[in-house]
Amino acid sequence: MAWLPLLLATMLGHGSGAPAALKTCGQSLYDATEYICHADNFLCRITAGEPLSVCGGACYSTFQYACSPGGTLALLPAATAAPFTLAVSNPSLPALHGQPVSAAGGLRWAVGGPTASYCPASVVGPDACPPGNATAVLLAADGRAAMAVVVPGGQEVYLAPDWSVGYTQAHSAGMPAGSVVGGFGAYVGGGFVNLNGDGWGWVACAPPPGAADDARWRLVGRNATSAAALAGCAPVNLKVVPFNSSSVGAWQYT
Ligand SMILES: *[C@@H]1O[C@H](CO)[C@@H](O)[C@H](O)[C@H]1NC(C)=O
Ligand SMILES: *[C@@H]1O[C@H](CO)[C@@H](O)[C@H](O)[C@H]1NC(C)=O
Ligand SMILES: *[C@@H]1O[C@H](CO)[C@@H](O)[C@H](O)[C@H]1NC(C)=O
Repeated sequence: MAWLPLLLATMLGHGSGAPAALKTCGQSLYDATEYICHADNFLCRITAGEPLSVCGGACYSTFQYACSPGGTLALLPAATAAPFTLAVSNPSLPALHGQPVSAAGGLRWAVGGPTASYCPASVVGPDACPPGNATAVLLAADGRAAMAVVVPGGQEVYLAPDWSVGYTQAHSAGMPAGSVVGGFGAYVGGGFVNLNGDGWGWVACAPPPGAADDARWRLVGRNATSAAALAGCAPVNLKVVPFNSSSVGAWQYT
């Protein structure tokens, strides 16, 4: 008779504190905060605030794929031809949505401006200095990414050992032991994705308690192992935005 109290508890639980109201999608019940119902019969998950689209019976993210009129899914074109800037996307989080991804100082990517950059104007002449006020990124065909800079040797983008996004200091290829280079994708009209993470995507993590008032949210790659530890961070997509000013964003980012 162990089931009886359990059943009662379930029944009593119904009136008060009931779970979010479910909606119907064809024959299924679903929670509209987690799923979207397409054509009243096909459920797709909402990830990072993006209700996934449907194509020929599969759910997909418009940050990576497009659906042909015939219903075939194809990767968007790789954004390897020109530098781009990035914008944080999660429509359910207005404080973060639309904010630029910035080189924030400390050789790290963060949410929101301004961009931290440097140009040795007295050495190279002010005319050689790009504005340096936007954070531009380049993707190579082999999946490595770099900051779009003038400085010889460039500045490579990597995942630090905690999978926060960093970039190498000018004139140095050094990075912390255990960092991950490459494994990135960027798509024209789509997003900048972390293919190392087996589809777990990016999160934005709030500054730790006691951080400076102007501390910004950090961008971190998530994977199956770290998902639980990063549960307090906000899932986001990173939208690729065409960068029109010139071929570089800065002399170097700091
Ligand atoms: C950077 O500065 C240039 C002019 O120097 C301006 O046209 C442009 O809008 C600025 N870009 C950003 C992202 O602030
Ligand atoms: C997942 O991310 C963590 C950092 O949060 C990293 O230490 C670990 O190596 C990553 N796991 C895999 C399988 O790459
Ligand atoms: C960059 O160019 C694209 C296409 O030419 C245009 O849609 C977009 O508004 C431009 N962005 C900026 C910041 O000027």
